[in-house]
Amino acid sequence: MTPPKPPARPDKVSLWQYLRLFRRDILSAQPQRLYRAWMAEFRTPFFRSYLINQPELIDRVLKHRPQDFPKSGRISEGLRPLLGQSVFLTNGATWERQRRIIDPAFEGGRLKQTFPAMLASAEACADRLRDRTGVPVEIEEVTSHAAADVIFRTLFSVPIEHEIAAQVFEKFRAYQRQQPLLNLAAFVPLPGWVPRFHARKTRRAAAEIRALIARLTRERAAQIAAGTAPNDLATKIMTTPDPLTEQCFDTDEMIDQVAIFFLAGHETSASALAWTLYLMAAYPDWQDRVAEEARAQDEISFASMSRLRISRDVFREALRLYPPVPMMVREATCPERFRDRDVPKGAQIVLSPWHLHRHERLWEDPDSFDPSRWATENGKACQRAAFIPFSAGPRVCTGAGFAMVEGPLILSTLLRRYRFEPVEGRSPVPVAHLTVRSRDGIWLRVVER
Ligand code: HEM
Repeated sequence: MTPPKPPARPDKVSLWQYLRLFRRDILSAQPQRLYRAWMAEFRTPFFRSYLINQPELIDRVLKHRPQDFPKSGRISEGLRPLLGQSVFLTNGATWERQRRIIDPAFEGGRLKQTFPAMLASAEACADRLRDRTGVPVEIEEVTSHAAADVIFRTLFSVPIEHEIAAQVFEKFRAYQRQQPLLNLAAFVPLPGWVPRFHARKTRRAAAEIRALIARLTRERAAQIAAGTAPNDLATKIMTTPDPLTEQCFDTDEMIDQVAIFFLAGHETSASALAWTLYLMAAYPDWQDRVAEEARAQDEISFASMSRLRISRDVFREALRLYPPVPMMVREATCPERFRDRDVPKGAQIVLSPWHLHRHERLWEDPDSFDPSRWATENGKACQRAAFIPFSAGPRVCTGAGFAMVEGPLILSTLLRRYRFEPVEGRSPVPVAHLTVRSRDGIWLRVVER
């Protein structure tokens, strides 16, 4: 048995069929050959895009010449109403300045200070499950709740039950349901003459979320001014000046950043954790090993995290099989040559963690769940060359280190107390929404150990 993988489409389909498949789900709209190809070209009357799977090409785009392959403005459009000018969408000098201010808050040393808030979220999540044992539970909902709680506690020192935090979480769920972001319009660039608009409802939902975030951010600015602010990520970011200009973010800029921390930080971790728990239910031997490792610690602390090796390998394997961000898009700003082919200026370059992580010419047994692969030669080589769940290069996920503590921490905390079991007839089907989710949720039974 291998874990669920969406069926690929036939190799040849008409453009019209492709667009229809794409609208339904970006993963199953792709042909099987992408799991073997180093590169694939998609030509349509409106656009050309190139999916690249060859590690050297990926390095060129993400690590060696990222300034020549910025984020495509057309791709960002769907997110603009919610995210404004946040670091996820900007390019060039604005992006560089934003990263100079944000990155120090996520440095290794800082993670130690953030850890108690993460631990409190993990324990709160385990407590909430106490009343839900024995019956099927939709786990994506559980992990979304937990990951949103982590963001609010680490950023603003408030739990998800806080009045504003709870509203942001609720409204965001509605927003997301209205707008599967990896949809056709967001991903496949439309020609310039097609009018763009955001559904009125989506715009309104985005404005409401931003108004709530603005309240939290303004309150914090006032606390900083009064010298009463807690020492958390929001305070750190809002009081860190750019080393070059010595300017801090103003409140409006900070609102944009908080919006992306909330979005990028909770959707992704929630997806990764939900798939990890599903894999635990499907592979009970591995589940027992993670539980034993967690129970062997007197308590889970920042110091004990480095001892949770099985938990980390399991979480990493889940990120490989179900990368929360399945594809990323960049734009070629000058003519390029990829594998002896001309890539014109303006072409869209698609990087696909989904396909790269299951590439048949790179990984041994790519579709199997095998956390022990990370100790093998092939696993180590692929971790360096063909594993990009957090992207790579200067634009790598700011929260990568944070997420690699959060994931194993929540996993181990839950497995210390509970066993997760599959529910018959409820095998999840991966689809790409905002992140890789299961079409009908991930249903598991939670049993007290
Ligand atoms: C398992 C969890 C996570 C995964 C798989 C993940 C993955 C990613 C990926 C692939 C990107 C690059 C997207 C692109 O270039 O198009 C990214 C960017 C980003 N992520 Fe994460 N992320 C995770 C958790 C987090 C957390 C916890 C935070 C913050 C608290 C965060 C904040 C960001 C930000 C701010 C960016 C934009 C960076 C930039 O463009 O310079 N992420 N993430």
